[in-house]
Amino acid sequence: MASAFSIPLVFLCSFLFIVSSCIAKTTPRPILQVTKDAKTLQYVTQVYQRTPLVPIKLSLDLGGEFMWVNCERGYASSSYKNPTCGSPPCQLLNTTSCITGCLGSPSVDCANNTCGSTASNPFGSISTGGPIVGDVFAIQSTNGKSILPLIKLPSFYFVCGSNVLDVGLANGVTGLAGLGRTGMSLPAQLSSYLKYDRKFALCLSSSNGAVFFGDGPYMLGPNVDASTSLQYTPLIVNTITGGGFFGDASPEYFIGVKSIKINEKRVTGFNESLFSFNAEGEGGTIISTTRPYTVLETTIYRAVISAFVKAMPKNVERVANVAPFGACFSSKNIISTRLGPAVPSIELVLESKNVWRIYGANSMVQVNKDVLCLGFVEARTDFSPTIKVVIGGYQIENNLLQFDLVKSRLGFSSSLLGRSTTCANFNFK
Ligand SMILES: *[C@@H]1O[C@H](CO)[C@@H](O)[C@H](O)[C@H]1NC(C)=O
Ligand SMILES: *[C@@H]1O[C@H](CO)[C@@H](O)[C@H](O)[C@H]1NC(C)=O
Ligand SMILES: *[C@@H]1O[C@H](CO)[C@@H](O)[C@H](O)[C@H]1NC(C)=O
Repeated sequence: MASAFSIPLVFLCSFLFIVSSCIAKTTPRPILQVTKDAKTLQYVTQVYQRTPLVPIKLSLDLGGEFMWVNCERGYASSSYKNPTCGSPPCQLLNTTSCITGCLGSPSVDCANNTCGSTASNPFGSISTGGPIVGDVFAIQSTNGKSILPLIKLPSFYFVCGSNVLDVGLANGVTGLAGLGRTGMSLPAQLSSYLKYDRKFALCLSSSNGAVFFGDGPYMLGPNVDASTSLQYTPLIVNTITGGGFFGDASPEYFIGVKSIKINEKRVTGFNESLFSFNAEGEGGTIISTTRPYTVLETTIYRAVISAFVKAMPKNVERVANVAPFGACFSSKNIISTRLGPAVPSIELVLESKNVWRIYGANSMVQVNKDVLCLGFVEARTDFSPTIKVVIGGYQIENNLLQFDLVKSRLGFSSSLLGRSTTCANFNFK
């Protein structure tokens, strides 16, 4: 395993009195390589942890509050620490929990006078309490173009999960990488240790993709910097439902969708106030890596399906639905383009007035050789009824999404297929 401790280039450079150009060009930033698991449709990545370092596979959870790892699968490390109640690591989350009576013998997940939180697994719809623990952590790094040595941090905080939390995780995965809007998420801890602006970018695909931390460039072959030509819309904080406590900021990334259009025509037949928060904090739109397809509240879903079917050219035959989808078509008269199957485009008109256009490659799912289905699903009772639109994984693949917490805005590229590249084109070799 490559585990060389990388000497911060900034220090080397400062001896040479060329600090600014070194910082601009060579300061390594963390990066995660992401692979889509074909069976579960989870986006899986790998980090390193403990002493000696071991690789840990995690599924991405964009709205997750922190990283959690199953500590019941042979956690062995000479470097873990249980922070004491009230110490800074215990203040990374807005929690005052303090564990005082663990009756077992001392171990990574059994200590007194230490803090804890609730770890959730949205894939198994299960959550459980666990202690907050700090341990050595290592992650791949990049200059935005190629891979540099691992970055190693002495103490990165996570929550110890247990076997009951493992339900529904992809093969080999033992936890979740929470990227949410909290003080303890991966982007938050990495940017505060490594002192760069709190920004990160998702670039996922049906095969390989990446999470870039910090600013661009984010170079995708052949020579496309995906950080250029982003459009922006504000990131919105839901302080009503928050992170479970009234007044807390939501860990989820909300954006303001104002209306939905199909082929530039506004979709009607539902109440657009569902896009805003009501007095109980219900409503709004988030982006998710734990939902494989966009989930719409029932009245929005029905209106979108009906408008999409109407906008489809008459020579395209509608065929029987294939679950979980509600609008399927024979592929016979649908031609292929660079942006995927030529079908009506779906436009999300955003708060900034910018428009997020969803073309065939991100809207149509090939369910068999002859059938394409609109890859949107209806919110069911198993689904949090408080959020009305969840933009899912299929819809964000091969789109660069930059979460800029400094300016509290989302940068989005629209389909990179239009720039003749994909999110699988970062050079991880
Ligand atoms: C925690 O405190 C309780 C009560 O004082 C004690 O019985 C127990 O052994 C302690 N646990 C650990 C892990 O130190
Ligand atoms: C933590 O709680 C305080 C008061 O309850 C609130 O003002 C603050 O915004 C919260 N911070 C986060 C990150 O939620
Ligand atoms: C839409 O919903 C809001 C909030 O529930 C309500 O005040 C408004 O009257 C509704 N509009 C229509 C046209 O039904």
